[in-house]
Amino acid sequence: MKFKVPRGTQDILPSETWKWQQVEKIIDELCDLYRYKEIRTPIFEQTELFQRLVGDTTDVVQKEMYTFTDKGDRSLTLRPEGTAPVVRSFVENKMFGYPDQPVKLYYTGPMFRYERQQAGRYRQFVQFGAEAIGSADPAIDAEVIALALDVYKRAGLKHLKLVLNSLGDTECRTAHRKALVAHFGPHIGEFCADCQSRLEKNPLRILDCKVDHGHPLIASAPSLADYLNEESARYFEDVKSYLDNLGIEYEVDANLVRGLDYYNHTAFEIMSTSDGFGAITTLCGGGRYNGLAEEIGGPSAPGIGFAMSIERLLLAMEAEGKTFQEEPALDVYIVTLGEQARQPGFKLLGELRAAGIRSEMDYMDRKMKAQMKSADRLQARMVVLLGEDEVAEGVVQLKNMANGEQVKVPVAELIEKMKETLLG
Ligand code: HAM
Repeated sequence: MKFKVPRGTQDILPSETWKWQQVEKIIDELCDLYRYKEIRTPIFEQTELFQRLVGDTTDVVQKEMYTFTDKGDRSLTLRPEGTAPVVRSFVENKMFGYPDQPVKLYYTGPMFRYERQQAGRYRQFVQFGAEAIGSADPAIDAEVIALALDVYKRAGLKHLKLVLNSLGDTECRTAHRKALVAHFGPHIGEFCADCQSRLEKNPLRILDCKVDHGHPLIASAPSLADYLNEESARYFEDVKSYLDNLGIEYEVDANLVRGLDYYNHTAFEIMSTSDGFGAITTLCGGGRYNGLAEEIGGPSAPGIGFAMSIERLLLAMEAEGKTFQEEPALDVYIVTLGEQARQPGFKLLGELRAAGIRSEMDYMDRKMKAQMKSADRLQARMVVLLGEDEVAEGVVQLKNMANGEQVKVPVAELIEKMKETLLG
């Protein structure tokens, strides 16, 4: 029997992990710059957390969750997203009591959704997300958006578009909901079974239905923009003016509703506009979720955040022809000749590593020529040659691979000499 990775997942091989590490470095540095602190929550949570917070009329909850019962008969779910776990942790750990508010958190880790596999859509993917919880200041909406954009900019991406909308507050949502029911109600028989059940529970979800997205009634549906009350409209204006202040360009799209239920006020997505990018152009999505902490028994703690998958970020880099710096080459390869040189060579390897010099030697019992080939393949900057004569004399031959120069160096002076060469 041949084993394969499960559908929708992938191995990230050593030739690729360098890129991932570079992206993670950008993320960590930028979050530090913006003072977001890393949080790590479990990979699985109580199923009810997602049902309650993400919303049980969403595709994510209805169709895409990896849910299982553990041996204690508890229903658990592999996290499909990071906001619900972070808000759960915020409430459970009473972070609302921290003196520094808002609490600004970020996470990078695997998420799981049982989706149809296609380019840029996986069943296990890694999301980087950031959440600022405890403030309803429109300036923090702009800060969160700026952070997401900065990650892409540092990765060298240029073909980006920020799309923005306001989903209003509960009052506007209720009025809009009524209008949607009146709009779709008489024709709901033309829609899929999911949409039919969504009509009463959550008609907004009909607008982002993957089955009925082409139905003309979706295009002509009443727009939330027409139902924004004064306070929500003002909030949206303020967010836009903070973005203007930072020189961030955006497009307002009244049809942007997002696929999760917890949003109100600001909703946004960042898309790739690069020609080389596939059918799915959304790189990042986020928005404000003011009632979420209360929903699970916490105090009122308005929040905003976003998440992006690293997979799509790397695909966008590829589409724009952006590459990372080469992985640094090996510093030294130790070539040993004969049995007598083996132990001293191995000892030297340990000493070099202790001195912070990235070193390697042969473990395949290769002949000298093959060891030199290995050194070449690994692009070693220097080679230490150690034969029985050198061992007897307490020296090594040090070869600089850039210019081919070879010098005899006493073992006691080797590390100093190497550091000179490496720095030079
Ligand atoms: P989301 O729009 O469901 O939002 O996902 C955010 C991002 O995760 C997407 O834009 C995409 O980059 C990535 N993503 C989602 N599904 C997949 C997939 N199957 N394969 C690859 N990448 C995927 C959320 O998850 C919210 N928690 C974002 C948020 C944080 N809102 C407020 N705070």
